[in-house]
Amino acid sequence: MEPDVERKATSMRTHMCGQLGISHVGQVVRLAGWVHRRRDLGGVIFIDLRDRSGMVQVVFNPEEDRDAYRVAEGLRGEFVVAIQGEVLKRPEGTENRSLSTGQVEVHARSCSVLNPSRTPPFYIAEDAQADETLRLKYRYLDLRRPDMQRNLRLRHEITMAIRGYLDRLGFIEIETPMLTRSTPEGARDYVVPSRVNPGKFYALPQSPQLFKQLLMMGGMDRYFQIVKCFRDEDLRADRQPEFTQIDIEMSFVDREDVMEVAEGLMAHVTEVATGIKVPRPFPRMKYREAMSRFGQDKPDIRFGMELRDISPVVADGQFKVFAGAIASGGVVKGINVSGGHAMTRSELDDLGGFVGQFGAKGLVWLALDPGSDTGVRSPIAKYLSPGEIAGIKQVFDAKPGDLILMVAGPAGVVNESLGRLRVHLAGKLGLIPRDEFAFVWVTEFPLLEYDQEEGRYVAVHHPFTSPMDEDRDLLATRPLDVRAKSYDLVLNGIELGGGSIRNHERQLQREMFRALGISEEEAMDKFGFLLEALEYGCPPHGGIAIGLDRLVMLLARTDSIRDVIAFPKTQKATCLLTGAPSAISPRQLEELHIRTV
Ligand code: AMO
Repeated sequence: MEPDVERKATSMRTHMCGQLGISHVGQVVRLAGWVHRRRDLGGVIFIDLRDRSGMVQVVFNPEEDRDAYRVAEGLRGEFVVAIQGEVLKRPEGTENRSLSTGQVEVHARSCSVLNPSRTPPFYIAEDAQADETLRLKYRYLDLRRPDMQRNLRLRHEITMAIRGYLDRLGFIEIETPMLTRSTPEGARDYVVPSRVNPGKFYALPQSPQLFKQLLMMGGMDRYFQIVKCFRDEDLRADRQPEFTQIDIEMSFVDREDVMEVAEGLMAHVTEVATGIKVPRPFPRMKYREAMSRFGQDKPDIRFGMELRDISPVVADGQFKVFAGAIASGGVVKGINVSGGHAMTRSELDDLGGFVGQFGAKGLVWLALDPGSDTGVRSPIAKYLSPGEIAGIKQVFDAKPGDLILMVAGPAGVVNESLGRLRVHLAGKLGLIPRDEFAFVWVTEFPLLEYDQEEGRYVAVHHPFTSPMDEDRDLLATRPLDVRAKSYDLVLNGIELGGGSIRNHERQLQREMFRALGISEEEAMDKFGFLLEALEYGCPPHGGIAIGLDRLVMLLARTDSIRDVIAFPKTQKATCLLTGAPSAISPRQLEELHIRTV
């Protein structure tokens, strides 16, 4: 039930539906809301009346009030009604334990229809049974469902908790522009044409990155903002083209300071939202370790099945696929599915297809059948020596009944496919505890990576991230070996946030642009305002941004970011409710100096 329901009395109602209980018995109340369900039990009509706080049963008995009964005869689902009536204890044996108001019912004395409703395209049910396309088209109906109301209320509680927490630590919330220049976060920009500046465009911010750094240069010391960001990128269940960040920046800090604030904030918010106290400090893992053990830079540490490297065991063996992969610089790694030996051939084939999506050429399995000593079953058994089999068993700490799944190839492909397979299988086999919130920090990411398509180095985080002090000299010589002063926050295998210490010295930023193959002219053209600001007494600073939608999604325990956004977009970045994006008139195009093809 909602807190402070008493304050919701208006000129049309005295109480909210979900508020009523035994303590109200005998009172005459006025309620207003939607007809959730109507049952005509031959002579007496029952409706479940719903508002944001919950539901209560209203009884229309012609012997108690004939006029109200007449109105009730015409009520249908989603009609908006006002009723007046007396709260009575339900007769013995008719209580409804699954309803918070289930001990009472309201006997109507009057009823008026405030607004009728067409038959809704789907039933306003507790769980989302309707097709999502329909739910998004009629989002206002979908929002009436109790679980959507709960999700948005939770989102509100979380944002309030964030604001309170950061305010207490001396952060001030400052807004930054939406119509701005490109911010390099690795996605495409959404652009807005300028009418008064023909041929010129604003970019919507991919993040407030440059502005928050400028705020530090402006002496603001501790900034935060709960802010919309826009990225034109391929969409997934945890990605939206417009999403919200909890954006933070701090002056005179090192990594530990920023991580301490973010960690405290996350622990506080998790407790407010779920009542669960997460243990602190959050575990930490270096990027290399995350990749080697989990195959991903966003490890889900709620279950085992970690990746193990068997390259040394099989490098010189008879099985050419393994030996060949290693000889050409790759690796052979695998996971041990405890008790998985009984998986059928078709299930194993499916898993082979699964890893194939991530570039793996094949999935080799080895099953340890219980009860037999030599009992390994594998399509490659005849190529493996007893020594290799023993070695593989040892690496995986394998027991009778286990199933070992292996992939050979370049390290990137092997890690990606096994990392995904691990998570996929854990879900399928029910190994993931639902009530755990497993935060983990991933640190020491590489500063740069090589972009094959662009044929140059690009920043892994963004170009303003500082290299680790001890690696700075490698920037010009071995750029791929330089580690960044960056950190990612991961929750239950999902990247929740990321940040870094920034380059506050002009010379270091120059070296970074040089490593990225960006000329001084290009850098000045794109980011001149920021580079110049570095020369006017820029304090050391750093920050982080945490995805609010993802955070709420995880704390609300839903699988889709769309369930915690009031008006989300589809996978194709469209809004089914309003029809955006849409064509604009020739006149508007002309005013904007735009010709379409
Ligand atoms: P980054 O690009 O890592 O960092 O973004 C931070 C967090 O924002 C969330 N996020 C998204 N959520 C939903 N839909 C999307 N399309 C989407 N893209 C990102 C993720 C992610 O971890 N300026 C830096 C932060 C910094 O350095 O301080 C930045 O934006 O949860």
